[in-house]
Amino acid sequence: MVEFMLPKNSRPVAGKTVKAPEGTKRVKVFKIYRFDPDADAQPRIDTFEIDLDACGPMILDALIKIKNEIDSTLTFRRSCREGVCGSCAFNIDGVNTLACIKPIGDVRGDVKIYPLPHMPVVKDLVADLSVPYAQYASIEPWLKSDTPAPTGERPQSPEERARLDGMWECVLCFCCQTSCPSYWWNGDRYLGPAVLLQAYRWIADSRDEATGDRLDNVDDPFRLYRCHTIMNCTNTCPKHLNPGKAIAEIKHLLLKRR
Ligand code: SF4
Ligand code: SF4
Ligand code: FES
Repeated sequence: MVEFMLPKNSRPVAGKTVKAPEGTKRVKVFKIYRFDPDADAQPRIDTFEIDLDACGPMILDALIKIKNEIDSTLTFRRSCREGVCGSCAFNIDGVNTLACIKPIGDVRGDVKIYPLPHMPVVKDLVADLSVPYAQYASIEPWLKSDTPAPTGERPQSPEERARLDGMWECVLCFCCQTSCPSYWWNGDRYLGPAVLLQAYRWIADSRDEATGDRLDNVDDPFRLYRCHTIMNCTNTCPKHLNPGKAIAEIKHLLLKRR
């Protein structure tokens, strides 16, 4: 079992400062969490001064610039650069969000970038997401049907298809999951908002025939009912989805069948 905790001695110390070149007109300061559990006794915060006239507009552009031009050891995940792969999720300016769709201009003052909170750190900004991915696998996120597959597509009415809106857009970034206080304290047993939103995505799918089993699978004091409707999850989602509402829909369906 992976422990849910920040690294030992988790209060970071001040690290190095890399100044912008002399004469830079538009300087933005980035303060970035650095920690290699295999090599460092303690995390540190490194400071990088970035020339905004030589940098793209998004937080991820600055991270890539730092890695390419200043410190190649800075470690973070990213892929699509357009908010669809979900890999560049960090805590930026105190809020979990995707670095590739977060404009640098939205942050007043210094830009502080930390890994997703309350998760073990693999290195620097890379959080260990093994537990949420195992929880995601546990809801069996694929279509289940005993009806023989048709030769073409499995049809849905426009209304049935519309029920999936607000869920299919989820990019599994886990910004919501790691912003949820209930998940911080019970993450080994509570499925968390991202996984429950995905569970509801299949419960609500008219083509899926395992609705009863899916409801049984989440009907548990810890797996589902640790949600106390605090709504941090919905407030933080960078895709403007509403995992809190999906959880409420599951609870409503369970209530109806009692
Ligand atoms: S609504 Fe539920 S899942 Fe969302 S932050 Fe609150 S406790 Fe967590
Ligand atoms: S619901 Fe939003 S915050 Fe949560 S995993 Fe999906 S896209 Fe990310
Ligand atoms: S790089 Fe894919 S979501 Fe940011």
